[in-house]
Amino acid sequence: MENFDFYSPTCFVFGKETENRAGELIKRFGGSKVLIHYGGGSVVRSGLLDRVKSSLSAEGISFVELGGVKPNPRSGLVYEGIDLCRKEGVDFLLAVGGGSTIDSSKAIAAGVVYDGDFWDFYQGKRIEKALPVGTVLTIAAAGSEGSGDSVITKEEGMFKRGASGDAIRPKFSILNPELTQTLPPYQTACGITDIMAHLYERYLTNSKDVEVTDRLIEALLLTMINEGPKVIADPDNYQARANIMWAGTMAHTNACGVGRSQDWLSHMIEHELSAQYDCAHGAGLAVTMPAVFSYELSHNVMRFAQAAVRIWGCQMDFENPERTARAGIEALRNYLCSIGMPKNFAELGAKEEDIPKMVQSLLYGDGGSGKISGFITLGEEDCTKIYQAMV
Ligand code: NZQ
Ligand code: ZN
Repeated sequence: MENFDFYSPTCFVFGKETENRAGELIKRFGGSKVLIHYGGGSVVRSGLLDRVKSSLSAEGISFVELGGVKPNPRSGLVYEGIDLCRKEGVDFLLAVGGGSTIDSSKAIAAGVVYDGDFWDFYQGKRIEKALPVGTVLTIAAAGSEGSGDSVITKEEGMFKRGASGDAIRPKFSILNPELTQTLPPYQTACGITDIMAHLYERYLTNSKDVEVTDRLIEALLLTMINEGPKVIADPDNYQARANIMWAGTMAHTNACGVGRSQDWLSHMIEHELSAQYDCAHGAGLAVTMPAVFSYELSHNVMRFAQAAVRIWGCQMDFENPERTARAGIEALRNYLCSIGMPKNFAELGAKEEDIPKMVQSLLYGDGGSGKISGFITLGEEDCTKIYQAMV
């Protein structure tokens, strides 16, 4: 296990009707003028936004609103949010929605207190300072409710890039599993896939002797495998929704990723798909992960075989561990198909002729170095082969 600092200061408030505590929590964390940020309207239709506003009013907290965050959130609305916060003297950001809304809120929070262009953070500058952010989560997926990360797409060039810093870890996150019951099955499945990807990206490590985090990841993946089909079959299954929601948060606070190197190549490769086709991040990952894992397999067959045995219950073939390793990747692919995820470019709506463009953007776009690294290091030929395997 390697040395690490683990800082996860978010207060998680979990359970039924907890959104009514938004006002109390903002007060506790020092907010007095709030920007309520939300997406394309699901929180308006469900009545959640009204309940949150009532909770703020009950505590005498004033607010302004900015809706319209799109999935794969864009830079244009971030600039708008920064201007609005400065004009209105906002001192607290409240994201009501999914990962996209939370990430847009984090970008605004960092941009308001920064003299330069907020995009600097998405080109590698670490976020050291930001307005405080709170969240009311409506989908178990990205894990942004507990992470120090934000992913934004710059409209000029459609570059989808991430920024990080402990300053953007939410002060609080309200997790009411009931709020996820209005999700369409496809979005629910995209969320399940993303959570599983966050676990796999951590499982694929080059660090040795990481038993505790290996076992945590395995437990969370087993939970997802058991609970996922329950919510697809019955969207109102509160207990299964609750287990998935907490697993999603635990998967990405990095509690199960400390002290070990991590992969993230599937995420980098997927981000080009969601930038190019505006597909859901989880759907893109369902197509990407099996292709990336198959490509990485020879780097450490035993790690993939371990995943196959411990997570998917495959029999270990000691004569031919590679067969076991491949069976695990196949089990993942079959599971994702069974919950309604796409398995190839055609089902995702991606086109083979765009591969060179995506490889260029991935490796060289917006200041790229020509290589990406995780469990292994990939160059142009490798990335091209991986995208081709998804066709
Ligand atoms: O916009 P509205 O109308 O709210 O609809 C959303 C959106 O269309 C809908 N939705 C959310 N909750 C709902 C609901 N519909 C009905 N009932 C509800 N309760 O679902 C759609 C997807 O929402 P979005 O916020 O985009 O989903 P998600 O949480 O999957 O976020 C995806 C974004 O997060 C990034 C992804 O790249 C992508 O841009 N990620 C962020 C990470 C982070 N900050 O740590 C890590 C992740 O790996 C990921 O990259
Ligand atoms: Zn993700």
